[in-house]
Amino acid sequence: MGVHDNADSKYNVMGASSFSKLAPKRPTTVVFNENPSKIQKHEDSQQNVQTENVDKGSISLQQQRKSLPVYRLRKRLLEEIRRNSTLVIIGETGSGKTTQIPQLLLPSGIAGTSGCIGITQPRRVAAVSVARRVAQEQGVETGKLVGYCVRFEDVTSSQTRIKYLTDGMMVREAMTDEILSDYSVVILDEAHERSVQTDVLLGVVRRAQNLRKLKNLLPLKLLVMSATMDVDKFTKYFQAPAVYLEGRQHPVKIYHAVKTQEDYAFSALVTAFQIHRDNPANEDILVFLTGQEEIEAAVVSARQVAKQLDGQGYPPLKVFPLYSALPTHQQLEAFKPSPPGMRKLVLSTNVAETSVTIGGIRHVIDTGVVKARTHHPTTGLDVLRVEKVSKAQAWQRTGRAGREAAGKCYRIYTKEDFERMMEMPVPEIQRCSLAGVALQLLAIGVDITTFDFMDKPPKEAVDVAVTCLEKLGAVKGSPPQLTTLGRTMSLFPLDPRFTKVILASVEHHCLEEALTVVALLSGESVFTDPPAKRQQAYVARSRFASPEGDHVTLLNVFRAYTNMKQKKVWCHENFLHHRNLEYATEVRQQLAALAERANLEKASCGTNTEQLRKALLEGLYDNLAELQRDQTYVTVSSKQPVAIHPSSTLHSSKPPLILFTEVVATGRCYLRGLSVIESSWLNEKGLNIGKCD
Ligand code: CDP
Ligand code: MG
Repeated sequence: MGVHDNADSKYNVMGASSFSKLAPKRPTTVVFNENPSKIQKHEDSQQNVQTENVDKGSISLQQQRKSLPVYRLRKRLLEEIRRNSTLVIIGETGSGKTTQIPQLLLPSGIAGTSGCIGITQPRRVAAVSVARRVAQEQGVETGKLVGYCVRFEDVTSSQTRIKYLTDGMMVREAMTDEILSDYSVVILDEAHERSVQTDVLLGVVRRAQNLRKLKNLLPLKLLVMSATMDVDKFTKYFQAPAVYLEGRQHPVKIYHAVKTQEDYAFSALVTAFQIHRDNPANEDILVFLTGQEEIEAAVVSARQVAKQLDGQGYPPLKVFPLYSALPTHQQLEAFKPSPPGMRKLVLSTNVAETSVTIGGIRHVIDTGVVKARTHHPTTGLDVLRVEKVSKAQAWQRTGRAGREAAGKCYRIYTKEDFERMMEMPVPEIQRCSLAGVALQLLAIGVDITTFDFMDKPPKEAVDVAVTCLEKLGAVKGSPPQLTTLGRTMSLFPLDPRFTKVILASVEHHCLEEALTVVALLSGESVFTDPPAKRQQAYVARSRFASPEGDHVTLLNVFRAYTNMKQKKVWCHENFLHHRNLEYATEVRQQLAALAERANLEKASCGTNTEQLRKALLEGLYDNLAELQRDQTYVTVSSKQPVAIHPSSTLHSSKPPLILFTEVVATGRCYLRGLSVIESSWLNEKGLNIGKCD
């Protein structure tokens, strides 16, 4: 029987009432196996004792640094780096790769005297938090010697020599500077994540290295780092050697659920409160969930339960959401250590999976799922769905519990479920829409059809991408060449179809509205949907609802929001996400600046929002669905049966032709973000239903 069986009754006393309110018929205990399946042994037990027993505040940062394996092995490591123009570095999490290697390179002379060391991260919050840590270790202000550059924030200066940036930002830099002349060393960190942008960078950086050689310029040093990765593949691709670093991971005990859990989010919360009941307050908890909506709902439940436990001898509990749509400063809130006597519960997406150290975390709860976007080249649809993680991802999550001291990881799935997981995630490049990547590569001067990817995307997907760009007017000829329009499109950090909407809006005199709607679509939903107040939320939303569809509805929301003085209060009253609207405002400003650089004519269509729908059609003409005789919908291009998502303002109307922005697969395919389209507009554009493709 599981370790938590005995505690059942005690748990019921404290927690059952609260949870039964949320979900009356479910058990209130998640049972885990008795024997942890794997105990990660410490490499160096003596040192383990040292770091674990000493109060964290009393050892200096410098002492902490010196205890890391990377530091201890620095001589040999630097020698290897010096000797090879490219080196693959494998080191367990916590060995000090991300924070220490750049700091070792700087005084070694390997980075030259003026060039920058650029370290890429797959995620914004990782780049920011690591840069801050390293600045602190160097005793400097962030943005001087050590800085970071992420979308919407460039915290670097002419003095910056160590620069953390997202992989996407580096691809953008390569678009205007193909030899990456600012850098003497480029470090591709967390290469195992294989985000599209990392995969593009693998090729782009290798190309920059060769170009510099050809032009007899200063060489570019390249380091590819990861904790878990397919070493052979990387060494072969780069024709470079690999070095291994031992880890300094503290031991983490792993518990698997004894039975498959029906509702992972609920089980994760129950587990969190079991931990809350049984452990000292200084041990913080990190839960991996899949997305903003799920996390926000869990935050509400957890806060309710915490409130009910108030005064029953439990330490106070502070709950933090963590996901990429949160503004960076709010994401960083979750990283701050909690005050003594108070416990922190962080509910996060996979943004906390790699690279980051969240102070205080000793317990990780892994639900084993992640939300991922998958592109189907045959149907041309990008579908967002919840999927099982790979073993590599599960280990990364586990590792988050042992960054600062010994920890525990509770997996909300069985040992057998774990065994059945894939070893590595499928590289994103093999499963996403490639139109954006193709455009970026062409802007760098590279043809995607011949580009040497580490894992080639399916030929079909490449063809679809090139055809899509041709149809948008961004490329022509064979091999494909960028048109003037395509060059302008490459300036925008968006899916080319959305960029097209912005560019085409000029012709329809609605640039202002197009910028607003595209900005809103770039973030997460602005509507909140509290389960307890669904009816009120519905009424509030209907005040903005437009019979023209969700895009005009979004526009109505944004227009009202901008005119409002007390924005936060107003959002609350109207069941709107203040943060997401703030985020959209920031994105809009960026897009407006790019539009100005591209000399796009400013215009507003006012109440004539039909213009906006016409502009949307220019970019998203492949995303149409048509009403059938039996009152169901099928997509125009691939005849796929689809349904209108219940959240859409068009849910109860049945327009003959609709344009959609997103497909969500939950059993069946639902369309989200809809606009009513007149079929006569298609004729105007020379498009015909059934001939779209
Ligand atoms: O990249 P890798 O996983 O090898 O390690 P790292 O990110 O360089 O971090 C090395 C160690 O520094 C971690 O295990 C933490 O003990 C510490 N660290 C920290 O305490 N706070 C941070 N923000 C970053 C690192
Ligand atoms: Mg790292």
